[in-house]
Amino acid sequence: MAEPRVVCLPGDGIGAEVTAAATRVLRALLPEIVLEEQLLGGVAIHETGSPLPDATLAACRGADAVLLGAVGLPEFDGAAVRPEQGLIGLRGKLDVYANLRPARSETVDLLIVRELVGGLYYGARGRRDDGSAFDTCEYHPAQIERIARRAFDLARTRRRRVTSVDKANVLETSRLWREVVVRVASDYPDVELEHMLVDNAAMQLVLAPERFDVLVTENTFGDILSDEAAALTGGLGLAASASLGDDGPGIFEPVHGSAPDIAGRGIANPAAMLRSVALMLEHGLGRPELARALSAAVDETLESRPTTDLGGTATTDEFTDGVLERLGTDSSR
Ligand code: IPM
Ligand code: MG
Repeated sequence: MAEPRVVCLPGDGIGAEVTAAATRVLRALLPEIVLEEQLLGGVAIHETGSPLPDATLAACRGADAVLLGAVGLPEFDGAAVRPEQGLIGLRGKLDVYANLRPARSETVDLLIVRELVGGLYYGARGRRDDGSAFDTCEYHPAQIERIARRAFDLARTRRRRVTSVDKANVLETSRLWREVVVRVASDYPDVELEHMLVDNAAMQLVLAPERFDVLVTENTFGDILSDEAAALTGGLGLAASASLGDDGPGIFEPVHGSAPDIAGRGIANPAAMLRSVALMLEHGLGRPELARALSAAVDETLESRPTTDLGGTATTDEFTDGVLERLGTDSSR
């Protein structure tokens, strides 16, 4: 990739602040990078009426990777057209079905592999004349098979243990999930598989998070468990994610939202975004050595110059300065 092309979607709230931090670091690490900014979410609704304008989708389709800040603004609560529809639409259009959400601390090293383009988020929904509302959860075996394979492949690069999380004691989609995961597992005799009900998984994550290696689960369960895992390992300020398809660009974004309560104050922790940039360097741009250097620089800066969410005083810019200083002195690149 001579001139990697990355589309940046800062989005709403602190999304713009953490994307600015990412841009500084990316330009320092990869001077030849081509960065293009596009609209997504609430800002896109304001400017174009759509949370996912055609120009944004076209630019993303032509990019090597997509870097996303955050979407969502309180002013759209209850509105028919919402910022989140832009993000969910983009994930679906790019078919980035595998959402990798690593969570690490001194004792914990787990990876949530969340199915990202199926289930409740994409099922039929609506209101009925009697005043009721419905959402539907549907999965096709092929959708389960491809995410299960991704999880087993990833487990082979780690501790070779997969926990498949479902609610098979109640839900039909979960019973199908289990059947398909068991079938896929037969191709991976070297990887240990266990099944866990989602309520128990939520409890085990709190009681014994160190027991987990790879967790694979459907869209909604993965959304909830990944916030829980983030809280266990330093909070949402640190949690990064990569959303990958089979080919085409991945989307790299922090797990946190737009945090309107602190937006515009320059105090957002950019670590989750910078770790997402590291995931992009590794999984999207084929530069694992730069990913390692950046991850190490972020880890060190978290120690030496913590942001306010971690009890420190560093602003977004000061933290980013720290990361750039570390990278500048890193001879391993
Ligand atoms: C996430 C977020 C999104 C989701 C929202 C913003 C639509 O919570 O990436 O976890 O639910 O997937
Ligand atoms: Mg979430």
